[in-house]
Amino acid sequence: AHIHLIGVPLDLGGGRRGVDMGPSAVRIAGIGTRLTALGHHVQDRGDILTPTPETREAGDPKKRYVREIHDVCEALYAQALDSHAAGAFPIVIGGDHSLAAGSVAASATHAKRQGRPLGLIWVDAHADMNTPATTGSGNVHGMPLAALLGEDPRELALVGGYQPKVAPGHTVLVGIRNLDEREKEEVRASGVHVFTMKDIDRQGAASVIEQAIEIAGRDTAGIHVSFDLDVCDPAIAPGVGTPVRGGLNYREAHMAMEILSDARRIIALDLVEVNPVLDHQNMTAVLAAELAASALGQKIL
Ligand code: ARG
Ligand code: MN
Ligand code: MN
Ligand code: MN
Repeated sequence: AHIHLIGVPLDLGGGRRGVDMGPSAVRIAGIGTRLTALGHHVQDRGDILTPTPETREAGDPKKRYVREIHDVCEALYAQALDSHAAGAFPIVIGGDHSLAAGSVAASATHAKRQGRPLGLIWVDAHADMNTPATTGSGNVHGMPLAALLGEDPRELALVGGYQPKVAPGHTVLVGIRNLDEREKEEVRASGVHVFTMKDIDRQGAASVIEQAIEIAGRDTAGIHVSFDLDVCDPAIAPGVGTPVRGGLNYREAHMAMEILSDARRIIALDLVEVNPVLDHQNMTAVLAAELAASALGQKIL
């Protein structure tokens, strides 16, 4: 396939600094050469220009830097939509997860042009379904899925000029284990399909990811996978801004990507929240690069 790498060194949506270095770390980990070795044609489109917090005011404490994040998401939307229109598969390397308001929007527009809705699999320790009304932190990276479903923050819901981007019936959360109390109510009321870590413990990661593909793939133009590295256990992915114990182990994470690849329904991938400042010898970025290879056809045999 033709693969476009798009870096988004966005550090405005989280509470801890350092995810702006994620795109560089994942490139240094060899994502490009790993994908080229699989026979793909890889084009690195460089980074989306992102402002640094030192040069801006946070604004509304319930949605800090939302203006700037909106602008970055619009620029990413245009770039990723270009990739889709060119027949390429965009891999968006973050950067904090608020960038998904732009990347998923591009996939949704691409799907809409084919007359069908988008399926979304959100692989994360968190649901990222807070709104400015429910958030405790004010960090916008806790809100992008709410925005994609048409909830506030409005600035992000409206990226690309329309809302919502995805329907709850085609949206699946996988791996979650850390929700804020008020966020739990949002998730329950939303109607999105949820597979928590408990579900993975009981049913197995393979069964859960197969069910997720079935739900997100049914009657859709394709599936966007938005992968937050913090879904992985901190033992294998310490370099993330918001680590939570009890996540996917190394083989579960790879197997999820291998099964997604085999299903041949993925049209785009986000790899977000890699934080080199908190990492050990770039291991989380290396994991991200390896997982990209598994998602794009690397086989054990
Ligand atoms: N729920 C918490 C919050 O709203 C944490 C969100 C973490 N999100 C992420 N993309 N890492 O602040
Ligand atoms: Mn997360
Ligand atoms: Mn706008
Ligand atoms: Mn996330």
